Amino acid sequence: MIYGRSMKILRNFAVFEGCDGSGTTTQMGLLRKRLQARSSPPFFLTSEPTDGPIGRLIRSALGGDAGLAPETVARLFAADRGEHLFASGGIAERAGRGELVVSDRYVPSSLVYQGLACGGDLPRILNEDFPAPELIVFFDLESETALERMKNREKREIYEYPEFQARVGESYRRILPSFRDRGTLLFTVNASGSPEEVAGEVWRALSHMPILKA
Ligand code: TYD
Repeated sequence: MIYGRSMKILRNFAVFEGCDGSGTTTQMGLLRKRLQARSSPPFFLTSEPTDGPIGRLIRSALGGDAGLAPETVARLFAADRGEHLFASGGIAERAGRGELVVSDRYVPSSLVYQGLACGGDLPRILNEDFPAPELIVFFDLESETALERMKNREKREIYEYPEFQARVGESYRRILPSFRDRGTLLFTVNASGSPEEVAGEVWRALSHMPILKA
């Protein structure tokens, strides 16, 4: 079993997932513009790691300077997510009161990245009580293309090297269907297109959420 049995679906909550360089952050920007141009629904676009205190600690660990064990990083991601979900004004509260919430990365990132870095058991246990999103958009991109896109970035993070990234896509393809088996809507977009093309595919996927049909 890849993911906890107790997993509940959190309605009105969607996540973007994909390897580094697959364009999720660019697409969050385009989605924001699209949603701003509409009068409804109210929305909250967010990301993990968060910019809260635990997220900032994670960012420094991703820079490689903190020298933390992979298991510690897995625990930090889960702690950051717990705050992101359940703090006042967090994901659960907003989705529960009828806002469309979209996060750039969520539980699947931990199952994939920390699964590769420290084995699957710990990330699975740390994340099994978190609700599943109503919808996942997977940004599918060859790792060579992703690495090419990232080569101009000034700083490399600990996961941004070819051998690791090649395994990230493969691991997503193995793990994401387990979310669909539990009732999450799963859509794969071809992330090699232009930003506008990808934005169109992302919007078509999100349009399957009841909150965007109303
Ligand atoms: P992200 O902010 O999407 O990347 P970028 O710095 O390119 O904008 O994510 C930062 C990194 O964190 C990315 O390599 C994926 C990793 N990550 C995990 O390893 N586990 C997690 O649970 C999450 C949310 C992210």
